[in-house]
Amino acid sequence: MPEQTHDLLVIGAGPGGYVCAIRAAQLGLNVAIADKEKALGGTCLRVGCIPSKALLESSHLYEQTKHELESHGIKVGNVDLDLGAMRKRKDGVVKQLTGGIGSLMKKNKIAVYHGTAAFNEDKSVSIGKDTIKAKHVVIATGSEPSSLPGIDLSADRIDTSTEALDYDKVPDHLIVIGAGVIGLELGSVWRRLGAKVTVLEYLDRIMPGLDAEMAKEAQKVFAKQGIDFKLGCKVTGAEKTKKGVKVSIEGQDDVEADRVLVCVGRKPHTAGLNCDKAGVELDERGRVKIGEHFKTTGSSDEVGIYAIGDVVVGPMLAHKAEEEGVAVAELIATGHGHIDYDTIPNIVYTEPEVASVGKTEEELKDAGVKYRKGKFPFLANGRAKAIDATTGMVKILADEATDRVLGVHILGHGAGDLIAECATSMAFGASSEDIARACHAHPTMSEAVKEAALAVDGRAIHI
Ligand code: NAI
Repeated sequence: MPEQTHDLLVIGAGPGGYVCAIRAAQLGLNVAIADKEKALGGTCLRVGCIPSKALLESSHLYEQTKHELESHGIKVGNVDLDLGAMRKRKDGVVKQLTGGIGSLMKKNKIAVYHGTAAFNEDKSVSIGKDTIKAKHVVIATGSEPSSLPGIDLSADRIDTSTEALDYDKVPDHLIVIGAGVIGLELGSVWRRLGAKVTVLEYLDRIMPGLDAEMAKEAQKVFAKQGIDFKLGCKVTGAEKTKKGVKVSIEGQDDVEADRVLVCVGRKPHTAGLNCDKAGVELDERGRVKIGEHFKTTGSSDEVGIYAIGDVVVGPMLAHKAEEEGVAVAELIATGHGHIDYDTIPNIVYTEPEVASVGKTEEELKDAGVKYRKGKFPFLANGRAKAIDATTGMVKILADEATDRVLGVHILGHGAGDLIAECATSMAFGASSEDIARACHAHPTMSEAVKEAALAVDGRAIHI
């Protein structure tokens, strides 16, 4: 077996892994990366963030062209859907971006191994016919869709987000299990393209973890768009029928549809890694256990084994994984690395988008933190009026005593971009007064952020 040596081997070429590899190479390490898939970029680029955003954009344009242009004085006649072309465009975007990661690996002189990586007892790693010895190994193997007892994800018409990115026909009726991020994003895509979409959610609210007021507002908006929400529904099974699928719900009648999309969360992916051989332990939820500096229990004086991204504790977000990738690369190469978990933004790419950073009102109340709140609706924002995007609002939560911003929540068009200013401000320890005093260009949606900051002190101008 050919034996290769590297300073660092990164297992998994998703956003956590490939960013870690690039940063380590920038810092002078001899780096290798391994992935079981031919296309680099992980779930995010291949079957997650990127293809879903491509379809969200296409389906949004389709819906706008059909229903929203006439009031602008634009007549377009018949609007037809070419789903094949839409999917082809999405596949083209994925191909370009995954190819781009390959080029970045070459540019940074990172060796790429294709195959499933497995630890050996001496902490070397086998990938196909190669055995790799590295001083440091970073596990960045990501996550995969999880299911419910009684639901077999391999059955036809019982789908995960991966299949729901590639339907060759718009389902007449799509049942979505779980009103989390994936359910709302992909549910929106297929509703816009003409499917009846029913979302079954176990809790009495959508988007658990998000600020409750924002989630309630968002639910009203999505329901108005045509998504049918059934809350308080504990799904207990799904099975294929002659014509489609049947979903069973505890204490309620079965529901039937053409297809069912299961999005009840994701689980860490460690299959085939042989973690036990290297002494790497998993926690009760199957995540790789890490301690200080992302170090796993498998680390020794000879080999440091680290883990980052979806496979460890924390939100399963590409940008969280990227930050951890940079931090661990810097720790390995220089002894210093940092990540601020309090300022990681969260975005749901529906229309309008839902974006947040920092604490929710519920979290502040639970922690007994006294806060002041400033809200500003997009209805009172000039740009929002001009572009027909008046739905939603900005809410800023600031510490009652110090005025330091503790959380920002935005429901609105472009919220995902607006939240960047808020995350940056929070990273610098800004007060709501700091945001309120900063000049925001007119007419922009960002003025609503400034106005919400002014509203913390009861001095918004336009309401
Ligand atoms: P999620 O954790 O966001 O939502 C799952 C939902 O399923 C919850 O509301 C839960 O209450 C519900 N549920 C669980 N068991 C149920 C049952 N028996 N019956 C009915 N409902 C049930 O999970 P999701 O949407 O699958 O996303 C997985 C991960 O992917 C998330 O952690 C998310 O962070 C990440 N992701 C992030 C995106 C983004 O940042 N825009 C986009 C897509 C995924």
